[in-house]
Amino acid sequence: MTTLWHGRFADDPAEELMAYTASIGFDERLAADDIAGSRAHVKMLAQVGLLSDSEADQVLAALEQIEAELAAGVLVFESSDEDIHTVVERRVTELAGVAGAKLHTGRSRNDQIATALRLFAKRELAVIAADVLSLQEVLLERAIQAGDSYLPGYTHLQRAQPVLLAHHLLAHGWALARDVQRLGDARARLDTSPLGAGALAGSSLPLNPEATALELGFGGVFENSMDAVSDRDFVAESLFVLALIGIHLSRLGEEIVWWTSEEVAFASLDDAYATGSSMLPQKKNPDIAELARAKAGRLIGNLTGLLATLKGLPLAYNRDLQEDKEPLFDSVDQVRLGLRAIVGLMSTITFDVQAMAAAADAPSLAAIDLVEWLVADGMAFRDAHGVVGELVRRSLDGEASLVDLVRADLRLGNQAAELLNPGVAVGRRSTQGGAGTVPLDAQLEHFRAALVEDRARFG
Ligand code: ARG
Repeated sequence: MTTLWHGRFADDPAEELMAYTASIGFDERLAADDIAGSRAHVKMLAQVGLLSDSEADQVLAALEQIEAELAAGVLVFESSDEDIHTVVERRVTELAGVAGAKLHTGRSRNDQIATALRLFAKRELAVIAADVLSLQEVLLERAIQAGDSYLPGYTHLQRAQPVLLAHHLLAHGWALARDVQRLGDARARLDTSPLGAGALAGSSLPLNPEATALELGFGGVFENSMDAVSDRDFVAESLFVLALIGIHLSRLGEEIVWWTSEEVAFASLDDAYATGSSMLPQKKNPDIAELARAKAGRLIGNLTGLLATLKGLPLAYNRDLQEDKEPLFDSVDQVRLGLRAIVGLMSTITFDVQAMAAAADAPSLAAIDLVEWLVADGMAFRDAHGVVGELVRRSLDGEASLVDLVRADLRLGNQAAELLNPGVAVGRRSTQGGAGTVPLDAQLEHFRAALVEDRARFG
């Protein structure tokens, strides 16, 4: 078996070693990024005179052929191909002979993998950002359609105050807007080329890391070769941002589960975005929302798993770092699938605005409005809170309805009782960023403007 290191070893690697240590089963996914890195490296080697132009052309032609073989699914992996870098170098050498054997000049798989993974992360985080923006767009659209529909807002999952449905939907939207910012920040921080760092210390050959960085479209080049090959903070940070998106989706998912329950029945799912039961004919289940809730756990696991792998690693490269890829691939895939499913679900969900309003019109949800009415009249807040709290307690004790108690109370009376009429309370949430009709227009406008700006950035 011809390994990349066969010169130093008298014996072939054991089958169990290859089975345990090989990464080709998953890093095959980095083929295009690995080839891009090799292309940039070879061009640079020719520029600095380490390869002749004709040698570089041969290697570049071989890389092109490998790309075509990969696309056609005809590139054969051999038992000695432990990772994608080995595959590409072996095949380049088969195709380009002596020139191919020069491909790895001044390079290590350590800077090579760090380069490929940064290229992957940079591209995929932008794709995720575009998908998050699609969900924000759906939320904005549904918020606009919601008009002045309102529902109970909750704290502790107890009815608190009425809020506009648009306001509720945009609360999820703003969290996603920050996720897009975080994706952008993480992308900017990982936008540094490690190529040229070699195994850990750079090279005695006249390499030009600036040239490869430029060719690969990176924003900058490493300052420290050991840091360049050994840190995976950019993977951890990407996993954090993806986990947080997953957490935001899980919170939206939980509300959908709840809203679509027969007990609450504030919303119903389109058939295409619900599932049935294999046994119970009447069931319509919110599986997308449940999996959005569940997969946050897996995404958090991917993050904490990698953090544990990185903790205590000595400088510089260690094979432990190979464990960075599967969690990143998984988190990218799961977040993308989840975003796309929830975009479909949210754009087709039907809101029962009558049921929402009926729940929000319970007079007790306007208790704070009674308090604020007394405060406006000069009463100290704590005293007003006590007065209204007592009326609520007496109504719960069955003495009379809250409305009647308010009417009969000399400090409140008929005018104050009108605050308990359906739809009145939500209209009174007039402060900036509040849940009522007055501040909503500005919020919608700001949300839309931020969305348009982010779209311009992420396409
Ligand atoms: N498959 C390896 C990884 O993912 C590539 C780097 C291998 N480097 C090494 N020195 N064995 O990290």
